[in-house]
Amino acid sequence: MNNRKTNVLFTLALWMLLGACSQSMVREKISIIPKPDHMIENKDLLKINDQMQVVYLDESLAFAANYLADQLSARTKMNVVVQEGTTTGAGTVFLTLDSTEAKEAYSLIINNTKATLSASTPSGTFYAVQSLLQLVQSSGDQFFLPGLEIKDEPRFAWRGMHLDVSRHFFGVDKIKKYIDYLSMYKLNTFHWHLTDDHGWRIEIKKYPLLTEQAAWRESVGFPSNQAKGLDEDDGKPYGGFYTQEEVKEIVKYAQDRQVTIVPEIEMPAHTSAVLKAYPDLACEGLDMEKIVREGTLSRNVFCAGKEETFDFLEHVMDEVLTLFPSEYIHVGGDEAPKDHWEVCNLCQKRIKTEQLADEHELQSYFITRMEKYLNGKERKLIGWDEILEGGLAPNAAVMSWRGVAGGIAAAKAHHEAVMTPGFPLYFNHRPIDLKNSPGHSSTNNTITTVYNYEPVPEELSEEEAKYVIGVQANIWTEYIPKWEYVESLLFPRLLSLSEIAWTSADRKDFEDFRQRLPYHLDRLDQMGVNYGKDPFQVAIAMQLKKGQQQVSLSTELPGLQIRYTTDGTEPTISSTLYKEPFGCTKTSTIKAASFVNGRLMSEISSVDYLSHKATGKRVAYENEFNAKYDGGGDFGLVDGRFGFEESISFAWQGFVSPTMEAIVDLEEITAINSISAGFLSDQRQWIFQPDQVIFEVSDDGENFKEVFDRKYSDSRTESVIQEVVRPTADDLKVQGRYVRVRAINHTPIPDWHAGVGKMPWIFVDELVVE
Ligand code: ACM
Ligand code: ZN
Repeated sequence: MNNRKTNVLFTLALWMLLGACSQSMVREKISIIPKPDHMIENKDLLKINDQMQVVYLDESLAFAANYLADQLSARTKMNVVVQEGTTTGAGTVFLTLDSTEAKEAYSLIINNTKATLSASTPSGTFYAVQSLLQLVQSSGDQFFLPGLEIKDEPRFAWRGMHLDVSRHFFGVDKIKKYIDYLSMYKLNTFHWHLTDDHGWRIEIKKYPLLTEQAAWRESVGFPSNQAKGLDEDDGKPYGGFYTQEEVKEIVKYAQDRQVTIVPEIEMPAHTSAVLKAYPDLACEGLDMEKIVREGTLSRNVFCAGKEETFDFLEHVMDEVLTLFPSEYIHVGGDEAPKDHWEVCNLCQKRIKTEQLADEHELQSYFITRMEKYLNGKERKLIGWDEILEGGLAPNAAVMSWRGVAGGIAAAKAHHEAVMTPGFPLYFNHRPIDLKNSPGHSSTNNTITTVYNYEPVPEELSEEEAKYVIGVQANIWTEYIPKWEYVESLLFPRLLSLSEIAWTSADRKDFEDFRQRLPYHLDRLDQMGVNYGKDPFQVAIAMQLKKGQQQVSLSTELPGLQIRYTTDGTEPTISSTLYKEPFGCTKTSTIKAASFVNGRLMSEISSVDYLSHKATGKRVAYENEFNAKYDGGGDFGLVDGRFGFEESISFAWQGFVSPTMEAIVDLEEITAINSISAGFLSDQRQWIFQPDQVIFEVSDDGENFKEVFDRKYSDSRTESVIQEVVRPTADDLKVQGRYVRVRAINHTPIPDWHAGVGKMPWIFVDELVVE
């Protein structure tokens, strides 16, 4: 697939030429991502040949110079050489330091005879190198750089990408690749999630059991990965860790590439792996055997009453700080349950002696105490937004993940904030739901929604906005057991992230960004990166207009041919070419795919449309559906399209109320033979089957007659992870104008689940009347 796609994408890029010709070489559109602040093109061309020399004028630029020469040589097969030199020496590419530029800013000037890259810091120079590498073009067998002048600097200081190596472990080579990918696109922060319930991943010499025991689990776990064929379970213990020597090597590798690694050591929660090895750090009065036995449950916390806990964490930090020179140290702080602390004598004693109001303030005490320790070592603490609860530590920075509220609260309190809201910046959520694809279910985190995300919330004043120091995307790896899947979820969305992190808001333009994408997909193909195919995938959108469905087809990547069928057959190169939206009135299966040069580029997208007696009819709700999970809006429940198991974002209407209740008006007395409705459970997302489903029919919308009532006693069992059930009333032989569906949550989320005691979600789609 890779080679084939390389050629196709190359052709695609050629189609998009701007057409400026100079010295008989054909210039392509310049496609730098992230888009530079200022760029003026001229007609000059600098040839890349065996005479090209990269000259650097300061020892601190040696790495960037060698990196540039290596990359140019690899790309063009020319022998580009490097030398340290002076401005007057011979050469064609000059890397210089210029004290007038802002930190991280750079300028790049290319004319017929030379390229000059200047910045006030090695990081700025490295970014100039990255821009230059995205300018390499070829014409025939000649390689060249187009003439231009760029002046550029980043919008945000924190341009981050996170990776969870606890749920699944990725070795040194993979981490270096990850750093390569970040640095190619001017991201400067790698947030390395090194510890969690499923495994501790960093050698700490003082606590050898962390790597002897806490780094391992009995088997790989996450059985849904095996069920989907994404991973095999070989029955062997699963795990791994980085030695301190490896960490040093990775930190140096990242430093060379201007990437700061921010390590995360989770506290007070997500500590099951640690407590398995060091059970004395857990609270008193617990069944430690059970905790050890169920070592991967995510409900364990360090005891906040024991001094041993803080001794342990300070010693761990001492070693962490010697390995990582980063200004910020991440201490987690997320999702800490309070039930262990509630029953622990020592934690309760701590609450009394420290005059704390409750367990939330105990969490705040915990984080503040660690902050004091880190500040004493001249480091800053950053944590997930739960560290706001119970009072923020005096100097802490906040990483806003549960939406943007935490970031807003932090900035308003004049604390630094990094914005990383789950929508759209959790890249572990797949962009679209292809069958058996890795990652959490889609929440529509696509290249488009990522691109359109604005990191500075409107709620902030200009002064407060300065506390938003940056933006970051995260990859949690529960459902990402292999490296190739990391790549497919990272790219191409990393390109959107890069541009929102670097490019000033007024220069952002999604249409222009789309046009620059093919160049980068071609580049990733050449590197063998398994990027996600989602931008090739055809989105089939349906819109009800006067009771008729209008079908429109699109892809995120431009320039593709879309072909489709409406009879359920697979689209081929001879199927109908899509030109404009078309109507759909009868039950049909629409299938569509994208093609370039006659070659299939996507998986087949398919939509079943069912025309039934309620399609397009008005629906009234007792409780409103959630705005984020609106299933397509007012007609989403009766639009003839079915929600499916793999996706919570599409078609399903979500409710967090004790009942979901909807009445559809069929507009006239109608013979009704069957009524059915689909309900999703996806318990990882707190979506459960309702306990009871009732269908009723009425002539007047006031007096309803029940035709179906089913209770589901086993709807809260742990074995159900993801499924769709369709309660169906058949052979009804009744008449009526109104149909009411009621789904009832009688019981809260049970105690085996992280959401214990809370109201579960009800997700419903499609209400079918026939
Ligand atoms: C998080 O996703 N628990 C920070
Ligand atoms: Zn305790």
